[in-house]
Amino acid sequence: MKRDYLSVTDLTKDETMALIMRAIELKKESYRGRELEGKTFALIFEKPSLRTRTTFEVAIYHLGGYPIYLAPGDIKLGVREPVKDVARNLDKWVDGIVARVFAQSTLEELGKYGKIPVINALSDYEHPCQALADFMTIFENAGTFKVNLSFIGDSNNVANSLMLLSAMLGTNFTLAHPAGYEPDTKVVEKAFELARESGALIKITTDPIEAAKNADFIYTDVWTSMGQEAEREKRLRDFQGYQVNRELLSYASPDVKVMHCLPAHRGEEITDDVIESEHSVVFQQAENRLHTEKALFLKLFE
Ligand code: CP
Ligand code: NVA
Repeated sequence: MKRDYLSVTDLTKDETMALIMRAIELKKESYRGRELEGKTFALIFEKPSLRTRTTFEVAIYHLGGYPIYLAPGDIKLGVREPVKDVARNLDKWVDGIVARVFAQSTLEELGKYGKIPVINALSDYEHPCQALADFMTIFENAGTFKVNLSFIGDSNNVANSLMLLSAMLGTNFTLAHPAGYEPDTKVVEKAFELARESGALIKITTDPIEAAKNADFIYTDVWTSMGQEAEREKRLRDFQGYQVNRELLSYASPDVKVMHCLPAHRGEEITDDVIESEHSVVFQQAENRLHTEKALFLKLFE
């Protein structure tokens, strides 16, 4: 049975923890292997990328496989031909699909019609591979997942995956967002369901100071995600007061770590001095993308 990874909930808690521990080992060894020898992967991107494209290509190469990058203009998913046809072509030639798309439903359709595993490389709904690297980073810094993680800003794809994975792994998670930018109801319901099992505390507030208080990790992301550019001016106004800056950090633990999936808009959601400070672990997160993606390939193709 093939397995897709479209949401952080597509692996169980035990599988996710094992994947992160394996990624930590792979990182220590600067692992190179031949597990994907003879295998090819289609990397479909509807949006730009630095980290995701590079780390997936390198991860595949380090495991002996071959990546084929399909740029936003190449296949025009759903425009040049239906998504279900793309899936039924690709599965005759390649062994897996890594896709960065707008709609989560595009990934689900690729997964439904294609006979090969599909990995979510970011959609408007979730960024599960980012969350894997983020929790590896949390574990490397704290030695546990039992920490207080606060996400301050937009209830976006990155926040969704972090809320769900926190709820799964037993991490206390607070989301602080401006009024009018509430998180998706389905994500919140699922998070509360998972939290009942793990014991995680999930809080949702409009108060960034409340979220910063006692946080071990403060996470932020852009206020305007890819595809929302037309809303940029309104969002810049609506998110005033939600910037991660020195003043906000003063409410958190003195050794608070600051996280960001990158790319960052310095001077908007985060200040330059904070991202460059000793609190920042943003480049460790970026590095861990490579190792968690290798571990994900080993899991889905073992
Ligand atoms: N964090 C992340 O996914 O970065 P890219 O958009 O550059 O891939
Ligand atoms: N929320 C951002 C994440 C980029 C990695 C976006 O979707 O543009």
